[in-house]
Amino acid sequence: MGFSGQCFGMEYPHERFVAFEPGAGPEAAARAFYEVMSLRRSVRAFSDRTVSRETIEWCVRAAGCAPSGAHKQPWRFVAVDEPQLKRRVREAAEHEEREFYARRANAKWLEDLAALETGPDKAFLETAPWLIAVFRLSSTDAGGQVYYASESVGIAVGFLLAAIHHAGLVALTHTPSPMGFLRDVLGRPSNERAYLLIPVGYPAKGCTVPTLARKHLDEILVWNAGDGTPSVPTRRDTSPVGDGGGDEDTPSPQPSPPAGEREPEGTRGRGVMIRRRVGV
Ligand SMILES: Cc1cc2nc3c(=O)[nH]c(=O)nc-3n(C[C@H](O)[C@H](O)[C@H](O)COP(=O)(O)O)c2cc1C
Repeated sequence: MGFSGQCFGMEYPHERFVAFEPGAGPEAAARAFYEVMSLRRSVRAFSDRTVSRETIEWCVRAAGCAPSGAHKQPWRFVAVDEPQLKRRVREAAEHEEREFYARRANAKWLEDLAALETGPDKAFLETAPWLIAVFRLSSTDAGGQVYYASESVGIAVGFLLAAIHHAGLVALTHTPSPMGFLRDVLGRPSNERAYLLIPVGYPAKGCTVPTLARKHLDEILVWNAGDGTPSVPTRRDTSPVGDGGGDEDTPSPQPSPPAGEREPEGTRGRGVMIRRRVGV
């Protein structure tokens, strides 16, 4: 039986919602998912062991299940496994990263990165069997508007990283700065803005990761905050629905990258390296 919704006098098809049945109560199911996700780590040393195209397809399909502003799905995932192309991506990324570490990053930024022992050498961009370059669409392929594009792509990348992890693979959320070169090297159209570069594969033998503490639940979860009195809206609260791209909390490296390009990591993850702590 068909269903329909009405809007602007038009009828649009609806279908019956199909609920996911986890086969366990919500507490057990949520906990089981947490236990899988708690083992996810960013890996910077990859093995050259191959990963099938089909695996990448399933992971990207999962990413494509993300919600998006007005269902515009403003994302593109470019999967690269050709060695020559990976080399060109690596060379361009390392060029930018050398500048970043030598000149663009301020002292505080470099200090925050120190615990991760990152640097301009990006061997993983050639060693990993796949690179997934994620692009944010600034307009639909037909030239139409998109809404909350940054938020939407961020959510899709979350799904992608979860799918990669769930497949028993590892990834790195990489943000060479700036990363406009990705559009040129990968021959992407002008409505696609480089968003992230994600090497995917298996960890190198003996791979290590920095010892990092995750925030405890008490630090990230607040119950029933506030007294119910609406606060005075800020300019940001009242800004019109747009393309998203709210990256106001991230300081720009010097000089600022072109609009729409992302800065390397280090500013969002304000956690300090202390010790391994399982935050439940
Ligand atoms: C938006 C974003 C950008 C990042 N950029 C980089 C990067 O350019 N290079 C890198 O080595 N790690 C990068 N990371 C990975 C973080 O350093 C990593 O997530 C953080 O240290 C926590 O470690 P974990 O992912 O193993 O839990 C980035 C992470 C995010 C979310």
